[in-house]
Amino acid sequence: MSLRTLVLFAIAVVASAVQVTETASKLTFSNARVSFDVQKSNGYIQNVTYQGTSLLGPVSGNAGQLYTDWPSNGFSLVANSSRQVLQGRDWAGIVITDNNTATGSLVQRSWFLRDEESGIHSFLRLAYFNETKPNQGALGESRTMFRPNTPLWTHIVTNNEQYATHPSDQAIANEIQVQDATWYIANTPNEPYVKEEADYWTKYTFADNQTNKAHGLYGVDASGDAFGAWWVVGQKDTFFGGPNHFDLMVDGIA
Ligand SMILES: *[C@@H]1O[C@H](CO)[C@@H](O)[C@H](O)[C@H]1NC(C)=O
Ligand SMILES: *[C@@H]1O[C@H](CO)[C@@H](O)[C@H](O)[C@H]1NC(C)=O
Ligand SMILES: *[C@@H]1O[C@H](CO)[C@@H](O)[C@H](O)[C@H]1NC(C)=O
Ligand SMILES: *[C@@H]1O[C@H](CO)[C@@H](O)[C@H](O)[C@H]1NC(C)=O
Ligand SMILES: *[C@@H]1O[C@H](CO)[C@@H](O)[C@H](O)[C@H]1NC(C)=O
Repeated sequence: MSLRTLVLFAIAVVASAVQVTETASKLTFSNARVSFDVQKSNGYIQNVTYQGTSLLGPVSGNAGQLYTDWPSNGFSLVANSSRQVLQGRDWAGIVITDNNTATGSLVQRSWFLRDEESGIHSFLRLAYFNETKPNQGALGESRTMFRPNTPLWTHIVTNNEQYATHPSDQAIANEIQVQDATWYIANTPNEPYVKEEADYWTKYTFADNQTNKAHGLYGVDASGDAFGAWWVVGQKDTFFGGPNHFDLMVDGIA
């Protein structure tokens, strides 16, 4: 009897390692290190908190959020998406399904948190099947955006060779657009980015193939603690064009 009680107690402790709480507007996933909120309205993630520090900052437009989108043709969220919360002994997650029966396209976004980890696992499934309209054009792009709205992140890191400071607010205020998503920012010549990297600021400078181990953001807070937010891909062979396909590592943050 006392052994059974002990075993049940152990299971109860493990089972509560990843907590899922729900309100009318969101589901919150948390373990001892990290927590995040999944918005019921669109599946976007807000309020990623790591040991008391906000990694995304407050929501302002699309900023302050982590989400996947499809700016090009083909895939989109639908009004009646469905969601399923899954929970195991030491993990929990959510699968959000957007099944567009009007076109035959399917989007499934999944976010999982394991106990003892400080990372969020992200899975994306895109499918299209339509016998009468077998081709609905190029996928174009799918972006999973970590879009902070906090001064914590000062550095942009592409790979172990290429990184730079994020241009300051002053540099951005004085910039001159020269072509698509490309600005001359040397009107502020003492800007660290200008001194260390280039006179021009563009996300294309930070493009890379998929052979890097990780890319992301780095910063040090007021009390001297260093933070990193890294996108780490578990399996690159199924990326469009395989691991050698060139892609943007930085987008939507300036
Ligand atoms: C964000 O998450 C933290 C940690 O779970 C919580 O204390 C805080 O109230 C949340 N903030 C908002 C705006 O929901
Ligand atoms: C979502 O709405 C569409 C159009 O009203 C409908 O055809 C489809 O069956 C609905 N899907 C679900 C999962 O309810
Ligand atoms: C999407 O909707 C189609 C048509 O109703 C259905 O056959 C299919 O099973 C659905 N897929 C998922 C993953 O819900
Ligand atoms: C296939 O696409 C056509 C044209 O967009 C649409 O009318 C039809 O409902 C789609 N069929 C399926 C099974 O999604
Ligand atoms: C991929 O990028 C890395 C780092 O920029 C570079 O060293 C390597 O040659 C590239 N590989 C291919 C096949 O393009």
